[in-house]
Amino acid sequence: MNRKYRKTIIAGNWKMNMLPSQVKPFADELKAVSPRAKWCETVICAPFVDLPAAIKAFKELRISVGAENLNENEKGAYTGEVAANMLVDLGVKYVIIGHSERRQYYGETDFSVNKKVHAALEAGLQPIVCVGESLEEREMGITLERINLQVKAALSGVSAEKMRRVVIAYEPIWAIGTGKTATTEQAEEVCKLVRDTVRVIYNDETAEALRVQYGGSVNAGNAAELFAQPDIDGGLVGGASLKAEFGVVATA
Ligand code: 13P
Repeated sequence: MNRKYRKTIIAGNWKMNMLPSQVKPFADELKAVSPRAKWCETVICAPFVDLPAAIKAFKELRISVGAENLNENEKGAYTGEVAANMLVDLGVKYVIIGHSERRQYYGETDFSVNKKVHAALEAGLQPIVCVGESLEEREMGITLERINLQVKAALSGVSAEKMRRVVIAYEPIWAIGTGKTATTEQAEEVCKLVRDTVRVIYNDETAEALRVQYGGSVNAGNAAELFAQPDIDGGLVGGASLKAEFGVVATA
């Protein structure tokens, strides 16, 4: 089996950008740049407060909407937090889990990432699980070990059946927001390792069905070459997803 059987998935990660009132004008801009490519699934992951506007504005463009985080608990006394079923109730389909910025600034660990993956799957969401090495780890030559561990920890206890809804995004931390993209060889090497790790935990079928994204300074100029790699099934796009250029990336 090869990637022809996996639908490319391009997801934008707006991070902490875009006012709710800017969502509709942005969707109109996107629509003008590129009508959606049929073979590609496109997702915009937005701040919580933007989600209702995004769901409304992107429906016509057939762009799915995702959140950027969730709380691992079902409900209860967790002031300021958002639960998975609240997102589902709104019409949210995807959720980014374990982004390196959350690991770095908000103390998320492989353990909490695993809990969030379970919460998302339980509620019916599709998690986009982020893994990635730091520059120091790459320079020390421990990238593959680090990614292997992150993937194993994130998926601990997840059934093969639920794995069908999981997307894994490989985002080298040193390539995020730096304009420094991993080479296609570096990106392919790690995305292949992610798939092979899943093959060892589950089986061939689960590994071949898994969609693995690359993220880190993806733009209209480098997307096509990255997404043409055998184990890269799309991208997780930060900065470029805030511009109409995202329409070009999504059809690369
Ligand atoms: P940039 O595309 O801005 O490098 O961000 C990547 C990212 O963190 C997406 O989640």
